[in-house]
Amino acid sequence: MFKDLWKRRAELVEKNLLIELKKTSILDEKIFEAMEYSLMSGGKRLRPVLLMAAADSVGGDGEKFLSVASAIEMIHTYSLIHDDLPAMDNDDYRRGKLTNHKVFGEATAILAGDALLTLAFEVMTRQKNVEPKILLEVVKEMSIAAGVSGMVGGQMIDLESEGKKINLDTLKKMHLGKTGALFKAAIKSGAILAGADEKKLSALTNYAENFGLAFQITDDILDVIGDEKNLGKPVGSDEKNHKSTYVTLTSLDEAEKLAEKSVDDAVDSLKNFGDEANFLRELVKFLIDRKS
Ligand code: IPE
Ligand code: IPE
Ligand code: MG
Ligand code: MG
Ligand code: MG
Repeated sequence: MFKDLWKRRAELVEKNLLIELKKTSILDEKIFEAMEYSLMSGGKRLRPVLLMAAADSVGGDGEKFLSVASAIEMIHTYSLIHDDLPAMDNDDYRRGKLTNHKVFGEATAILAGDALLTLAFEVMTRQKNVEPKILLEVVKEMSIAAGVSGMVGGQMIDLESEGKKINLDTLKKMHLGKTGALFKAAIKSGAILAGADEKKLSALTNYAENFGLAFQITDDILDVIGDEKNLGKPVGSDEKNHKSTYVTLTSLDEAEKLAEKSVDDAVDSLKNFGDEANFLRELVKFLIDRKS
């Protein structure tokens, strides 16, 4: 049931991503191909699915918010294209395929990322079933999450921490930024779009932060003990780049425990929710057992 819903919604998002991409008026074929290459190359589609599940959890219908859900996947895909660039993590594989810059060249990959980020905001403006005031609030959440106070800020700490021994507080701040911010924006946006009250919004925000931490700690663990085939991206990337991760700052064992604690805390945040939040409960539990 949980996996089926995830799959169905991921497919809905994929169809819409292609529709939105094709709506653009193309000045140059190569950048369109580069955008399509990364956007349509699979991926778990976690952020859009989370956005929809958050809307469900407060009594809404997540599938009504396909435009905003697709937009956040565009922002995420842009962040992956740039994350893999030689100037950043310098990785050759992503989602089981060569990275964008390996296929299209570095300059095109940079522009494809820029174009996906801006297209995301155009797509958000097409969201139906919602009042403009509410949509504006969501656009604000997304802008803050994607930018210097969120994902970009976290990526900067990540780069600055290469080869250094940072403390656990800085590591947490980095994770909450580079990874947590977009998850939080997905969950808060879904809730805001579905008209959540302050209490539920605050509980979901708490869930989201713990979800983000559990997710990135597991990503760090998989970078050490994962399987490249399942992951679709290289293992050992963090070691190659002398990154600070939960595994390097604590231990594999400790990192697993911290991820489990974040999962428990996330589930606990939903204690006042009914069965409508079951998907969110199952999804966060699934995180630490994931192979990809
Ligand atoms: C990978 O995110 C990048 C991180 C934030 C760690 P995902 O694991 O969600 O990547 P895809 O979208 O499934 O490829
Ligand atoms: C990057 O974290 C997160 C973003 C893309 C914002 P990582 O560098 O650990 O992600 P992977 O492991 O390459 O997917
Ligand atoms: Mg990185
Ligand atoms: Mg990386
Ligand atoms: Mg990683």
